Amino acid sequence: MALLPIIVAPDPRLKIKAEAVDQVDDELRAFMHDMLETMYAAPGIGLAGPQVGLGKRVIVVDVRENAEDDGAPNPYCMVNPQIIEVSREDRIHDEGCLSLPDQYAEVERPDSIRVRYTDENNTVQELDADGLLATCIQHEIDHLDGILFVDHITALKRKMILRKLTKIKKLAERESA
Ligand code: NI
Repeated sequence: MALLPIIVAPDPRLKIKAEAVDQVDDELRAFMHDMLETMYAAPGIGLAGPQVGLGKRVIVVDVRENAEDDGAPNPYCMVNPQIIEVSREDRIHDEGCLSLPDQYAEVERPDSIRVRYTDENNTVQELDADGLLATCIQHEIDHLDGILFVDHITALKRKMILRKLTKIKKLAERESA
């Protein structure tokens, strides 16, 4: 197990379209577990391959749905996830992203979805998700197509957020130089 470095926007690696996975092998399984560990440590509720330099259609999510029961982790590792149904009703959530640290904006997405994906044992699964889990899965699948949550808000707000992150990056580079 290892913590993976998370790529911070703006970065061209976050804008690529990730490639489909043919087969989940031991190497990818281990990488997905590293992704989960990285997500929990951040802490975050979702992480997509491109955020950690993997150009493959892989996401991990855990919105702690069990938190009210026993607090046990409830992770999903999804390979080649695909939204096959969306509700007519939308839901607005104040979204954040591990690749846009400390930046938040309200994004409107379908409230519930059905997602088809391959699990870590190469079995095709379908999941009905609503609320925060649905928001999170849609946000992570966006990453696989090079889309960030700021791409869903006004250009003005997006520019403000990206400018802020560029400034923070430059400061960090100067300090480490
Ligand atoms: Ni994100």
